[in-house]
Amino acid sequence: MPELAYLNGEFMAIEEAMVPVEDRGLQFGDSLYEVVRLYGGEPFRLGPHLDRMRRGAEVIGMDLAAAGDLDEIMQELALRSNLDTAFLYLQVTRGVCPRNHLIPEDLDPTVIATARKLEAIPEEKYSRGSVAFTRPDLRWARRDVKATTLLPNIMSRSEAIKRGGYDAVHYEEDGTITEGSVSNFFCVIDGVIRTHPANERILSGISRATVLECAEDLDIPYRESPFSIDELMEDATEAFFSDTYSEVMPVTHVDGEGIGDGAPGPIAQRLRAAFRDVVRRETGSA
Ligand SMILES: Cc1ncc(COP(=O)(O)O)c(C=O)c1O
Repeated sequence: MPELAYLNGEFMAIEEAMVPVEDRGLQFGDSLYEVVRLYGGEPFRLGPHLDRMRRGAEVIGMDLAAAGDLDEIMQELALRSNLDTAFLYLQVTRGVCPRNHLIPEDLDPTVIATARKLEAIPEEKYSRGSVAFTRPDLRWARRDVKATTLLPNIMSRSEAIKRGGYDAVHYEEDGTITEGSVSNFFCVIDGVIRTHPANERILSGISRATVLECAEDLDIPYRESPFSIDELMEDATEAFFSDTYSEVMPVTHVDGEGIGDGAPGPIAQRLRAAFRDVVRRETGSA
């Protein structure tokens, strides 16, 4: 069935969806986005994705209510595209006006959404695990806001992939690890899962929250407290990413050095199984 776009009230083929050259999303990155996964045609945790966009809109002073009923739009897009495994992409820009740094009032937001087929990651990739490369975190200081200003992230991700990696692991000037370029990052130290607190320095991932729920259910202790590259390299027995695409992806090597014994860790594997159980329970598919 078709890959589709939605633009300001109309559904159409993706190639037909066009925005004006003075859209503020295009000129300033003055826009927010979400990527929601469909499992068996059902959106996974659409509500939390839209709540996150609403929180972001409050921070940047965007009138998201004027964008219409986003839940209905996304459900309708899922229904009309009738795709099984897919990404629904949603972007709301502040709207169109002559270029001006001053944030204008009363603009009609531009609402864009697309439904694209997705190739699920093969199982053997999870059992092999992935490698990662550290890169400085160059994004802005409000990474909790899922804004489309992603230039630093596309640069670090491309660099990591060029070097044969799965994703970059970002760190701040003092060596604190924040997150991946499209993911949250975890390690295990002394049997305790560690991940950066969900504050302004990282995006609070919907998958991250799912992972922490799974840890709670499995009685695996976790601490949302910052850790450094040195702690990761010297003390961690395992590491993994979480995000909408990969769910839970074990990391076996960082910058060419093995984490723990250099194989996917047991905690990451249990969390991934638990994550898939949650998906199955909530969408009827996985
Ligand atoms: C910078 C960043 N961190 C974390 C994530 C993971 O978020 P989620 O689990 O909601 O996909 C993403 C996803 O796009 C991201 O771009």
